[in-house]
Amino acid sequence: MARKKIALIGAGQIGGTLAHLAGLKELGDVVLFDIADGVPQGKGLDIAESAPVDGFDAKYSGASDYSAIAGADVVIVTAGVPRKPGMSRDDLIGINLKVMEAVGTGIKTHAPNAFVICITNPLDAMVWALQKFSGLDPKKIVGMAGVLDSARFRHFLAEEFQVSVEDVTAFVLGGHGDDMVPLVRYSTVAGVPLPDLVKMGWTTQEKLDAMVERTRKGGGEIVNLLKTGSAFYAPAASAIAMAESYLKDKKRVLPCAAHLTGQYGVDGLFIGVPIVIGENGVERIVEVEFTAEETAMFEKSVNSVKGLVEACKGINGALA
Ligand code: APR
Repeated sequence: MARKKIALIGAGQIGGTLAHLAGLKELGDVVLFDIADGVPQGKGLDIAESAPVDGFDAKYSGASDYSAIAGADVVIVTAGVPRKPGMSRDDLIGINLKVMEAVGTGIKTHAPNAFVICITNPLDAMVWALQKFSGLDPKKIVGMAGVLDSARFRHFLAEEFQVSVEDVTAFVLGGHGDDMVPLVRYSTVAGVPLPDLVKMGWTTQEKLDAMVERTRKGGGEIVNLLKTGSAFYAPAASAIAMAESYLKDKKRVLPCAAHLTGQYGVDGLFIGVPIVIGENGVERIVEVEFTAEETAMFEKSVNSVKGLVEACKGINGALA
């Protein structure tokens, strides 16, 4: 059986980490694409030279021509610019929207049947624009945000409770901005919901609120520490989990920015919700019940995404 082909558009910090993880997990052969000539080739060769040490088989190539992504099974998009201290994800919209136009055209021409995962920020608007520019079936394109935001929340919770990260589950929904919605009621330690753990004295409501807030600002915390760019290890790991679920038809239930057609009262936007990812792409959208407070938080987050999408339409008339 031929190996799967994974195309990475953008060979920067996240792109390079994606390429390494895809090899370590033997998900398939990897094509790195970037406009910075030499970078995708160099990273590809460097990782290929690590393969004998780690013992994995995968072919690596680098390219600056979209024909190289032809026939890709999965395309992961990180092309664009990351934010610097003092910037919000929304500040990237002008530059990254232009990049999505070029990437969308490349995918449309060379890999129209791929499962596409967008990581470029501001995520919920960029994945929406990428779907428009590429013309992809909305079930074959998702944005990576919820897995990352949930992983950040899980890390903070595991540290607080001094338990394995494996036994902490969390759901963070909504847009990938500071008003994202960490769902405390649906987050657990070995199946025990967080509000019950507060009652059991494992933590206090104040500490839980602080962890929710730290999760919302999690990306900014890393940007402030790195100063020259944004997070890349956890974003790459998150997108690889999504790619793996598609490639192996695992049907994992993961929070991702998915195209909604009425679910959660949203139509025509990409918003972070729990979905099932399998061989057909987005196989199911899971609609959980919200309390009035959760609904208010979710609606606020949806409104922020709506604002960004409107801004995209204002910048590029073809999207209106
Ligand atoms: N086509 C292809 N690649 C491009 C293009 C383009 N039109 N424009 C920029 N790039 C490449 C850059 O050359 C760079 O190598 O995208 C890469 C981006 O890499 P980094 O600057 O290292 O950024 P990274 O940390 O990987 O983040 C990428 O993901 O999380 C988001 O906010 C983040 O939008 C940012 C994206």
